[in-house]
Amino acid sequence: MSDKKASLSIDGKTLDLKVHSGTIGPDVIEVSALTGNGYFTYDPGFVSTAACESKITYIDGDKGVLLHGGYPIEQLAEQSDYLETCYLLLYGALPNAAQKETFVNKVRMHTMVNDQMSTFFKGFRRDAHPMAIMCGVVGALSAFYHDSLDITDEKHREISAIRLIAKMPTLAAMTYKYTIGQPFMYPQNHLSYSENFLHMMFGNPCEPSNVNPVLAKAMDKIFLLHADHEQNASTSTVRLAGSTGANPFACISAGIAALWGPSHGGANEAVLDMLNEIGDASRIDEFVAKAKDKDDPFRLMGFGHRVYKNFDPRAKVMKLAADEVLAELGLENDPLLKIAKRLEQIALEDEYFIERKLYPNVDFYSGIILKAIGIPTSMFTVIFALGRTPGWIAHWNEMISGSYRIGRPRQLYTGPAQRDFVPLDKR
Ligand code: SDX
Repeated sequence: MSDKKASLSIDGKTLDLKVHSGTIGPDVIEVSALTGNGYFTYDPGFVSTAACESKITYIDGDKGVLLHGGYPIEQLAEQSDYLETCYLLLYGALPNAAQKETFVNKVRMHTMVNDQMSTFFKGFRRDAHPMAIMCGVVGALSAFYHDSLDITDEKHREISAIRLIAKMPTLAAMTYKYTIGQPFMYPQNHLSYSENFLHMMFGNPCEPSNVNPVLAKAMDKIFLLHADHEQNASTSTVRLAGSTGANPFACISAGIAALWGPSHGGANEAVLDMLNEIGDASRIDEFVAKAKDKDDPFRLMGFGHRVYKNFDPRAKVMKLAADEVLAELGLENDPLLKIAKRLEQIALEDEYFIERKLYPNVDFYSGIILKAIGIPTSMFTVIFALGRTPGWIAHWNEMISGSYRIGRPRQLYTGPAQRDFVPLDKR
């Protein structure tokens, strides 16, 4: 708590408001005293609202900085791996060798789902959107763990976090297999987390598993780059759902639903659809013009961000990874990658984008790598949800293990003042 004060003069009164300082980043003005003085704050979209205190992730949007537990995302992407980053998000420190081995083994021993889960899939049409299926089956997990849903019990919270991190790849792969009419593949405990996911996605019972290590490494990096991102829309959804005391599986299902939107995690799927629609570099100017046209709802998908007013550091890492993976696969002349790079170059030179500080975000290049790995566009946001699970559950756990109140925003009411009911024969 800083000893700074803010004062607000209104209607001849001066209200003294507390100011709190964090480790780094902007100070925050505590406005709870406003209600007792007859005022609410008004901040649609929470552009200037800090909804909570957190130690998990820090973003400096102006500098394009992203830290998990203080570690820059570029260093984690280069030197760490996804499960180690999951540990960092959950426990606030990088694990030593023994801690890492224990954590990896715990996750490994929870990758299977109850066999009853497979009947849930049969209720969906084969052409159901994979995110619709994931909302359902992840929420359904809460029907299987009545023995460990006491959110006040630290051990229950920890086993729920492990189960979610362990089972998301299994459920995601089952979702994909169901939509293509192939049998579900069981997890293989001798494989790494990302190898196991690709095995469950692309393996089949008729042949031995054969996962390309280059693709597994790229997959792991994609999961890592999506692991957490402060109080984004889906994480805020998880926190708000969790503040009512709902069980963690239901809260993560709510986060999946929020992520699905094209303005959020659904953007990676929308980027690929956009690049395919552009089709050729000669049409880029036409689409950039559409993106700038106020009367046209079209936006350049994968560009812009509420917080980053500089390059999204994840996009920089993703762009390098796209070059590496496609070169390894002999796809360096991939037409979509060429269009994406040309589109980025044109947009970054255009005054409209420069003025609004619109840069590529995490979703701009991720789809190109996912496509090279062989993942269909409809599964892109499922991959984002899988990667984001440790962030969601870490924020949920941070809130539930601390002091919190049910989230209940207020409003600026502009509807009719009180009036008497008018009987039907008098209307
Ligand atoms: C993610 O919050 C997070 O951290 C999210 C995320 C995470 O890891 O959890 O980083 C993941 O969701 C990344 C964002 C993915 N979404 C997209 O790529 C969709 C395209 N981008 C936009 O829809 C938009 O940029 C948002 C939603 C990302 C941000 O919206 P804001 O902050 O509300 O900004 P805005 O809509 O007020 O835009 C400001 C201006 C507007 O123009 P003016 O009215 O000032 O003239 O910029 C324009 C917008 O029209 N603008 C764009 C644009 N994005 C913003 N114009 C064209 N193309 C775009 N992509």
